[in-house]
Amino acid sequence: MKRLELLVAVALIAQVSLAWAETPVERGAYLTSSIMACGNCHTPRGPDGAPQMDKQFSGGMRFDTPGFDVTASNITPDAETGIGAWSEADIRKLLTTGTRPNGVQVAPIMPYNFYQGLTSSDLDAITAYLKSIPAVKNQVPGPVYKTHLLPTPYPDAQKPVTDAAMSDPLVRGRYLATIGHCMECHTPLAQGRLQFDTGMGKGGRQFDGPWGISTSANITSSKVSGIGNVSDADIKRAITEGIARDGHRMKPPMGYSAYARLSEQDVNALVAWLRTVPPIE
Ligand code: HEC
Ligand code: HEC
Repeated sequence: MKRLELLVAVALIAQVSLAWAETPVERGAYLTSSIMACGNCHTPRGPDGAPQMDKQFSGGMRFDTPGFDVTASNITPDAETGIGAWSEADIRKLLTTGTRPNGVQVAPIMPYNFYQGLTSSDLDAITAYLKSIPAVKNQVPGPVYKTHLLPTPYPDAQKPVTDAAMSDPLVRGRYLATIGHCMECHTPLAQGRLQFDTGMGKGGRQFDGPWGISTSANITSSKVSGIGNVSDADIKRAITEGIARDGHRMKPPMGYSAYARLSEQDVNALVAWLRTVPPIE
């Protein structure tokens, strides 16, 4: 190759790698702060209910239920009160199986049944990011388990997705809805099992909190009860701004302030996939 041609080729390669410049840590930061909204549970809140970002991921919400009384763990790299002593393999194992390095299973409120569907590269990205954030010392109360509970397996989390397939908006949308555990809140619960086989997306689950009671919406493609007749723009507004189809301001716990950080491509993919969820009245 002549010198000039060589220079042009080098410049082209540099441009291509710039387009792919998102590092694993950046990808992990994006996922955890947007679609996966880890901070919704793991970041402490001030008296006004706003997340305390200087103490990000140092332990948060308490879930006191008949089956368990647990508090979202400190997942910063603090060696004593966080997960600083965990290896990368330990973190990957917890995220996909719910099992801690000491063998104790976390309560199923930690959505590992959905995170089981994470691609290997995204698992690496989240792990790298968790290792990179500032350590915060904060002792969270230990868990109390009253019964041995396992989460309901989520069908889409058991179908591995490749990075290459993700260029198809429907595959991408299905993947984002899986790791965003949308259907955990939007599917009815009966006898401790989420009714994924008969009620996927039907809504109607009630969430009790400082906000009062909120009831999840039907997000199937039903034109009567679901989003079948709602425009793309209005669905996007609900996901990223927390304003429902009838204009009311949505209550927590849906993490729309985190979903506001989703890229345009990712929100569009989510909406495209939602349109394929079979209608249920
Ligand atoms: C719906 C709330 C919720 C969300 C969302 C959530 N977690 Fe958790 N997580 C919890 C709770 C609660 C526990 C503690 C459960 C227990 O003690 O049994 C936990 C435990 C953990 C643990 C185990 C730490 C330890 O010391 O036991 C790790 C690691 C973790 N979460 C990481 C994450 C990451 C990373 C995300 C986002 C990708 C995330 N979690 C999203 C609620 C949540
Ligand atoms: C932690 C529980 C929870 C999660 C996770 C969750 N939602 Fe929601 N969602 C709700 C609740 C509750 C409402 C109703 C809030 C209200 O009206 O006050 C709601 C409302 C909605 C609406 C508004 C429907 C309307 O009436 O216009 C849409 C659309 C929606 N969710 C989509 C999603 C998608 C997509 C995801 C995943 C990216 C998701 N939700 C994740 C609890 C959740």
